[in-house]
Amino acid sequence: MNDLEELAINKEKLITLALEARAKAYAPYSHYAVGAALVTADGSVYQGCNIENASYGATNCAERTAIFRAVFDGHRQVAMIAIAGGMEGEEPTDYAYPCGICRQVLQEFGTKELRVIVAKSTEDYKEYGFEELLPFGFGGESIR
Ligand code: THU
Repeated sequence: MNDLEELAINKEKLITLALEARAKAYAPYSHYAVGAALVTADGSVYQGCNIENASYGATNCAERTAIFRAVFDGHRQVAMIAIAGGMEGEEPTDYAYPCGICRQVLQEFGTKELRVIVAKSTEDYKEYGFEELLPFGFGGESIR
């Protein structure tokens, strides 16, 4: 189910959706705007942005916004996620890697073959297997 053709969305489209999602970021404190777009194993696509809070710890990252939207709609298997981040009003100048909390949430809701893309643009991106980003992750199978 992780084959991109089966998912009916290509990487460039997912990156475009992540870049688009950055425009929705609520980041009045860091001014760092992040967008994410994911496709689930059943082909559903979700976008997310970071949502900051004056109580900084209450901030939600773009990746988790997208994942939680998917889960609320009943889609618990993320097959691929694209992430783009950079200063508000600018194109990304670096690859934005998912934070530790988002990696742990992806551990919960990613397929075994989950792919993670970090993108500056549709032409300039890197792609990883999830285990490269979170080796020896702690998951539900450990406590079942
Ligand atoms: N941020 C994300 O949205 N995703 C990450 O994986 C890392 C950080 C956001 C949180 C905060 O709004 C801003 O980037 C600066 O940390």
